[in-house]
Amino acid sequence: RTVLRERAFAAMERAYAPYSSFRVGAALLATDGSVVEGCNVENAAFPAGICAERSAVAAAVARGNRGFDAIVVATEAEEPTPPCGMCRQVLEEFSPHMLVIAVTRGGREATWTLDALLPQAFTPQSLSRQ
Ligand code: THU
Repeated sequence: RTVLRERAFAAMERAYAPYSSFRVGAALLATDGSVVEGCNVENAAFPAGICAERSAVAAAVARGNRGFDAIVVATEAEEPTPPCGMCRQVLEEFSPHMLVIAVTRGGREATWTLDALLPQAFTPQSLSRQ
């Protein structure tokens, strides 16, 4: 678990966030034990930017991981920051019961289950309910 936090902060250092100056790093723990990092990558065309959480999911899926036990999200904010709605939805697709752990430089932490962050979610199963 300490490793996950360190990896999340290391990814945060690589964030490309020249527009918001809000750097975010993420470390995903896959069910096979591997850890995959992500960071936010902003763009001059603002909406083209991507959050740390979704960039971690994309990297994980690209290397063959589709199941996750936890994600650690690291920022430089005072308080732990939960993922945005779009990231919650993307995590939900693969692991609806995973843990989401937000950490700060100052050592503050908050932990939620994804179920709690995204109740009554639209899921892959929703598509087949007609
Ligand atoms: N951001 C993330 O990467 N993850 C979050 O959970 C919240 C927001 C990014 C998006 C944007 O690059 C910057 O933080 C400010 O919103």
